[in-house]
Amino acid sequence: MTDETLETVLTENRVFEVPAEFAEHARIAGMEQYLDMARQATQDYEGFWAEQARQEITWSKPFSQVLDESNPPFYKWFADGTLNVSYNCLDRHIEAGNGDRPAILWEGEPGDTRNFTYAELLEEVGKLGNALKSYGVEKGDRVVIYMPMVPEAVVAMQACARIGATHSVVFGGFSAEALKDRIEDAGAKVVITADGGIRGGKTVALKKNVDRALNEGCDTVEHVVVLQRAENEIDWTEGRDVWFREIMERESADCAPEPVEAEHPLFILYTSGSTGKPKGVVHSSAGYLLGAITSMKWVFDIGEDDVYWCTADVGWITGHTYIAYGPMAVGATQVMYEGAPTVPDPGRLWSIAERTGTTVFYTAPTAIRALMKQGDEWPNKHDLSKLRLLGTVGEPINPAAWMWYYQVIGGGRCPIVDTWWQTETGSHMISPLPGAVPLKPGSCTLPLPGVMADVVDEEGNTVEPGSHHGGLLVLRRPVPSMLRTVWGDDQRYIDTYWSHFPDQYMYLAGDSATRDEDGYFWILGRIDDVINVSGHRMGTMEVESALVAHDKVAEAAVVGRPDEVKGNSIFAFVILQGKREDEDLEALREALRAHVTDEIGAIARPDEIRFADALPKTRSGKIMRRLLRTIASGEEVTQDISTLEDENVVRQLQGKA
Ligand code: PRX
Repeated sequence: MTDETLETVLTENRVFEVPAEFAEHARIAGMEQYLDMARQATQDYEGFWAEQARQEITWSKPFSQVLDESNPPFYKWFADGTLNVSYNCLDRHIEAGNGDRPAILWEGEPGDTRNFTYAELLEEVGKLGNALKSYGVEKGDRVVIYMPMVPEAVVAMQACARIGATHSVVFGGFSAEALKDRIEDAGAKVVITADGGIRGGKTVALKKNVDRALNEGCDTVEHVVVLQRAENEIDWTEGRDVWFREIMERESADCAPEPVEAEHPLFILYTSGSTGKPKGVVHSSAGYLLGAITSMKWVFDIGEDDVYWCTADVGWITGHTYIAYGPMAVGATQVMYEGAPTVPDPGRLWSIAERTGTTVFYTAPTAIRALMKQGDEWPNKHDLSKLRLLGTVGEPINPAAWMWYYQVIGGGRCPIVDTWWQTETGSHMISPLPGAVPLKPGSCTLPLPGVMADVVDEEGNTVEPGSHHGGLLVLRRPVPSMLRTVWGDDQRYIDTYWSHFPDQYMYLAGDSATRDEDGYFWILGRIDDVINVSGHRMGTMEVESALVAHDKVAEAAVVGRPDEVKGNSIFAFVILQGKREDEDLEALREALRAHVTDEIGAIARPDEIRFADALPKTRSGKIMRRLLRTIASGEEVTQDISTLEDENVVRQLQGKA
């Protein structure tokens, strides 16, 4: 992918100017206005963010301190202020007379629909907040949310925010084992789940996974709140399990929002890193909310007439910032869809967009590529003329997919915001402001105002734009919305993000990038052992640990292989405990795939597994991962393999011996 991307950077020179019609109504219109904001932020960094924070957040107690850098890299923003995030997302719109405005237009996969106004949503949130309190959940306690894509997932997150509990949403596609690890790491008191989720016409047995996780540990969990969704059969533990709707019926909707300190942890979200253990990324309340709000306005240009739709799952950071918090905080009307994009046919998303009159649409390149493969006839069946802005996130978008999105979905009239950011940054960092910045397919263009992004060499010196050299993507200053630590592991936070450059604190994103002569950023890929599968981060070590946990496996190495739809697919090289000849290898492959699905979830399931007698290692015992990537991609091996203990291993790994 990296080479292909570099090639794109060197050859892609199309520029798409801002459509005049778009700029006319945009919140930030024209390059001058963007540059002006960026300049203000550079000249008075704290002043810029302080002004945004005063304008955009309703504070319970105003702050007087802006950025506290006294204990780097444990930065604090607006630390002496207090606020309530759920108040900012709900009450304030109702107080402004917008209680009847639709907040969520939800559609289930089978076709059932439910809509919530802001006032209705607040009622739900208040009731659940009270219920959580009745189970002893207090400010700072952790609640794990393991839900399908239903409005109640947002209600659960907002209810935690309302009472000051810290939530940790676990993606519904993760296995019982992965869920258990996260519940235990977070030390959750309550788990909110559903009997099952519906996706791709199948029922995802969420409650069953919760039961399995809790049977194996998770001693801190006192209650499990269960929403009825799929109506599948479930086991019930009396005294511990409670029905979501039953408790809602008995609770009052009147639940005062608990003011919390600006730095109070709003949520923990686990993400993959270079080691086998996922990191619990901790986000603040005020700084995080501010990033969500400013990016909704600057990047999505959101306004009163918009119908906004982000197709992410709430289990990922995109679903947190751009479903559960950002759109709510700006009082937007948003679409939420439960299921797969191809049920009952590949026109499902376009049909929903037509029916809801979607104006701003945000999805991942992998979804665009998958739908592009299905042909133009699907979008062409639907009236998509209300769309005015398109967005992508999660991985670099290849120019062919960009052009399809632009022309076939956007009708050549909608700017595309290619948003670069991460679980850790909390909100968009590098992205076009659609009314201001001309687009180049495949580039996330320029940093948002107040984001000091740079590309640097190993010493931390800026790699000059236009030099055609790649470098490390960094943020030179801490931004309000970024992570505050790794849950329970401050040292890992320091080591992973802030220790790369010896004499200075710069945030290391873990991506490599290059900038062209216009200063546009082009993301080249990860610098660590993390692969990007369908826009999701997967640590190769995590998959490797899952594989070696199988009793037939002695050793495993996992790499990414370029994939037309997923960006990367998972390719595993496996060394067995016993002799390969004694095994039914096809059956074993299936068993190993099922095993990884059990340990982590279907997203980690290796697409290909190849068996060999040994892994290629240098004489010092390091696995030659670059060589494995070459082999996985089916390319000719040109690397020097003379340091290999046994050169025949390469032929085996290539599947030739
Ligand atoms: O490698 C970058 C890639 O996704 C990583 C972050 O993954 P995650 O924390 O799971 O968050 C995904 C949703 C924000 C980044 O380090 N990435 C994300 N957006 C882009 C991207 N790569 C290229 N272009 C993007 N727009």
